[in-house]
Amino acid sequence: MPPRPKRPLSTPQLLRVALSNTLAACDEALFDELIVERRFVWGRFFSISDPAGIRRVMQDNVDNYPRIAPIRRVFGFTSGTGMLAAEGEVWRRHRRLLNPTLDHRAVLADLPVLVELSEALAALLAQLPAGQELNVGETFTHLITAATGRIFAADNRDIDPVLYRLGQYPGRYSLFDFVAAPRWLRSIAGSRKGRIDVAAFLPLIDRLIAERRSPAYRGAEDLLWRIAKAHDRGEDEGFGEAELRDEVLTLGATAATPLRVFPWIWYLLATHPAAEARLYAELDAVLGARPPTAEDLPKLVYLRRVIDETLRLYPPAPTMLRTTLAEDIVCGRRIPRKAIVGVLPWVVHRHRKLWRDPDSFDPDRFSQDQAASRSRYAYIPFAIGPHVCIGASLALVEIMVAMAVCAQRFRFRLAPGQRIEPIGWTNLHPKGGIRMTIEPRVGAVPSHAMSSVC
Ligand code: HEM
Repeated sequence: MPPRPKRPLSTPQLLRVALSNTLAACDEALFDELIVERRFVWGRFFSISDPAGIRRVMQDNVDNYPRIAPIRRVFGFTSGTGMLAAEGEVWRRHRRLLNPTLDHRAVLADLPVLVELSEALAALLAQLPAGQELNVGETFTHLITAATGRIFAADNRDIDPVLYRLGQYPGRYSLFDFVAAPRWLRSIAGSRKGRIDVAAFLPLIDRLIAERRSPAYRGAEDLLWRIAKAHDRGEDEGFGEAELRDEVLTLGATAATPLRVFPWIWYLLATHPAAEARLYAELDAVLGARPPTAEDLPKLVYLRRVIDETLRLYPPAPTMLRTTLAEDIVCGRRIPRKAIVGVLPWVVHRHRKLWRDPDSFDPDRFSQDQAASRSRYAYIPFAIGPHVCIGASLALVEIMVAMAVCAQRFRFRLAPGQRIEPIGWTNLHPKGGIRMTIEPRVGAVPSHAMSSVC
């Protein structure tokens, strides 16, 4: 766990700590009180963990709470008017058009590709020499990038390096994002923090979209095809050309998010043998030696609980920061205009008033009984309300398939001598990665020889 300050940080302390690890800026009181107010030099900040308050901010009065400008600048830098940077009518129109491109039905159509790529990864892992350490994040980065590439463009592998680059974007702020500095200055400061210039990617994106919009196109109805069709749904309703590219870049950058989950799942399983054994027993009972199908996913109940609990403890998007356009009353508290409002999954998911023994790993919190006794606004790894993650179905299917295929065959073991520390910027990841070794499970499914994943 990152250090939790006992007392609120002063403005200079906050700047220093938050720019290197936002999680370490969350002081103890945030985990005890449902609404916490802090005053900084630039204004007032409210951390809202009360489920009724989250509902007010994220759903009932959502238009009053746009994302804060620095975050929109960070995302806008890569993807202009894409869904993460846009607000109001532009966002609403884009979201309405894009919702069907990633709905559950569309996602399930990609399941065979996910199984094929997960099996190819398992085949590679099976060839590793015994005891060889691997960085789990990197291992699954290749899988998710390959999967994203095939989902975006079924028949064109030129897009894979572009998606890899977009997916590596760490979403880290620079001070210049907070002061609305000119784009060239933010570009220099941002590139030092891993921010990328996407201009070089645009000709390829334009070509792939143009192919899919051509009347002669007879290829797969992949994600780019679905986005292109959303665009063509009428002059008034569709996107402009630049908006279309922005959404491809937005989805390209966000589609990598599931890879952030794997290091934590394997780490939690390796450190909780009873949960690990229960997961293996479920996989053996439901799947035996065969690959998962769409019908199997609802039967992998314990796997889904493990994933949900991992997303609770290590939410890949640990902070959601909004600003108030107009004064509002949230759970009886006055929130002034221009305040910063934080709905922080990192805090909400570990809040002592919302969860029993909040820092412990207990997948059964997500059993039907326990989930029914809890507000749905207390568990928000994919956000909630109109801005809820558009890729949630895809993410869950990707993680379930990859976990089922790999856990059918292997145990992951923590390599000794490492300190595991979560770091949060716009996303959450283990500092320096998590090193593990793998062992075949006794009597597990043999891995078929397959070609390389990427
Ligand atoms: C485990 C994986 C994922 C997690 C935990 C996650 C989490 C989130 C969260 C918390 C938000 C809300 C952010 C905010 O409002 O400030 C969000 C929004 C978004 N996510 Fe995801 N995400 C995941 C995977 C994906 C994938 C696979 C895609 C695309 C294929 C995606 C695309 C987006 C987009 C475009 C938005 C903006 C939606 C809007 O504002 O209307 N995400 N995600």
